Amino acid sequence: MNIIIKENYEQMSKYAAQIIANFIKAKPDCVLGLATGSTQIGAYRELIRLHKEEGLDFSQVKTFNLDEYLGVGIDLSKPYDLDQSYARFMHEELFKHVNIKKENIYIPDGLTKEPNKFCQWYEEQIKKAGGIDLQLLGIGRDGHWAFNEPGSSLATRTRIHALTKDTLDDNYESFYKKAGIERSQMPHFAITMGIGTILEAKNILMIANGLKKAEVVAQCIEGPITSQITASAIQLHSGGITVVLDKEAASKLKNLEHYMHVEKLKRDYGLDSIA
Ligand code: GLP
Repeated sequence: MNIIIKENYEQMSKYAAQIIANFIKAKPDCVLGLATGSTQIGAYRELIRLHKEEGLDFSQVKTFNLDEYLGVGIDLSKPYDLDQSYARFMHEELFKHVNIKKENIYIPDGLTKEPNKFCQWYEEQIKKAGGIDLQLLGIGRDGHWAFNEPGSSLATRTRIHALTKDTLDDNYESFYKKAGIERSQMPHFAITMGIGTILEAKNILMIANGLKKAEVVAQCIEGPITSQITASAIQLHSGGITVVLDKEAASKLKNLEHYMHVEKLKRDYGLDSIA
């Protein structure tokens, strides 16, 4: 596992975006797994900059998003602030600014009338695309990946899942409150890729910033593997794993100095950062 610690959010975002850009350059038709959250916004902005200023080409890239609230779907006729779907977030924060093809974008359909069937279909589409080459992830304050809340089995597949109070509180603060939506009106269920689905991605790139994530980041990377911190499944992944943190999010890692030392050695020896 590569653990890279950057000075601040901006540097963390730029570094993560560079990893994604390198993947796209090496394999223009790569399959990316994408995530939503305030953590990702900086990396998406940098990808947009790389597209506009350096010609980063998304024309053959395929994307699969991790999750979506159930009962919520993209409605482009609504002002941005009034549509809290993850589909809308992705459209506004990334897709509409780059040359990705609409037919290459997959996001769980929050308005599906047959959620279970949809989940199965979603899994099939990932397989049909050849699997995910690089999965971008954040981490929830309770240690979740996507919407795999504490207690989710580490073998789960794409499915419907109920959200915990902590997650609803966090997402209310970050998104819903600004839109003037009542806390009680938030969706309580989501469609989410499972931990088993995520672990099948060939490479994983997890990013986290800020002091409020420090404790859970340490538990995820250095604590026991447990369904109580579903992101701790990162320790089971067999492919390339890179975790990019800002100093605050890294501040509770026991082996912080060692990670920084290893990273410096890798830089000195010119070794790849995804390994
Ligand atoms: C939501 C998403 C997760 C994300 C988490 C953290 O629960 N489903 O994929 O990692 O929020 O969001 P933020 O980056 O805003 O802290």
